[in-house]
Amino acid sequence: MVAKLLNGKQLAEKIRNDLAEKAASLSARVGRPPGLAAILVGEDSASQLYVSKKHQACQEAGFHSELIQLSASISQDEILKKVRDLNRAATIDGILVQLPLPKGMDENAVLETVAPEKDVDGFHPQNLGKLMAGQAGFVAATPKGVMRLLQEYGVKIAGKHVVIVGRSTIVGKPLALLMLQADATVTVCHSKTKNLKEFTKQADILVAAVGKAGLITADHVKDGAVVVDVGTSRVGTKLKGDVDFDSVKQTASWITPVPGGVGPMTIAMLLENTFDAYVTKNKL
Ligand code: GUN
Repeated sequence: MVAKLLNGKQLAEKIRNDLAEKAASLSARVGRPPGLAAILVGEDSASQLYVSKKHQACQEAGFHSELIQLSASISQDEILKKVRDLNRAATIDGILVQLPLPKGMDENAVLETVAPEKDVDGFHPQNLGKLMAGQAGFVAATPKGVMRLLQEYGVKIAGKHVVIVGRSTIVGKPLALLMLQADATVTVCHSKTKNLKEFTKQADILVAAVGKAGLITADHVKDGAVVVDVGTSRVGTKLKGDVDFDSVKQTASWITPVPGGVGPMTIAMLLENTFDAYVTKNKL
C-alpha cells in the first residue's frame, strides 16, 4: 500500500480563504477586523520564522496583526506589563506569546497573565482545564489542526487505537484529550517509554510529536496505519519531520508530509481561534 497524502497545506489555504472572506464582511459591521498580537522575546531563529509566518498569514487574511519583538534582556515584569496592556487593547482579540521564552523567564507566569478570552494559543490553565473537563474553550492550534485534518479527510477516530509519541503541553497532552473526546483509545509514549516500537506498531493512528528527525521508520508502523507527523527539525537547510516519510509511506494508508502537513494547519487554526475570539467579543 502506498499512503495517500493528508495535505495540510491545501486544507489550511481553504480555511484561511474562508476566514478572510468572513472577516471582510464582519469588519464592515464591527468597524474593525479581527486582531492578533504576537509577542516574541529574544533572537531564536526558529521562533522568529514561526512568528513572522503567523504575522504574514494574519495580514493575508485581512486581520490586524501586531508583532511585538522584545529583547532577551527584558525583565519578566516588563513582559507581564506588555501582556496586561494587550489584555486591555480594544483592537486585539488574540494574544500569543511565542515559546520557548529565553532561559530564566517564568513561562507559566507569563501564560497565566494572558486574559483567557484572548488566549488563542489555548495555553492558559483555564483553557487547559476546560479541555480536560470537556468544556468549550480555546484549544491549542497544533492539536486542533491535527483533529481537523483527520476529520476533513474522513479518517474515523471512534474506537481506534491512537498512539501519540510526545507528551508536551503544546501538542501531546492536549491531543490525547481531544482523541479521548473523539472516542479513541489513547496511548501516550515519551522519552522514557521502553520498547517504543511495541506501542507504535499497535497504532491505527500514529502521531509523532517529538522533534527528532526520522525517529519513526517503517518498522514502527502497522500496515495501513494513519501517520501524522507533528515534528519539525532543521537538518542542514531542510525541514525534517519525526517520520521517515519515504519508508513509512510504503506501508501507511494516510500520511502527512513535512513540510506541508500539520505546520500550515497550526497557522490556520490560530487564525480561526482569533476569529472566534473576535466573534465572541463582538457578540456576532
Ligand atoms: N512554540 C512552538 N509551538 C508553538 C505554538 O503553537 N505557539 C506558541 N506560542 N509557541 C510555540
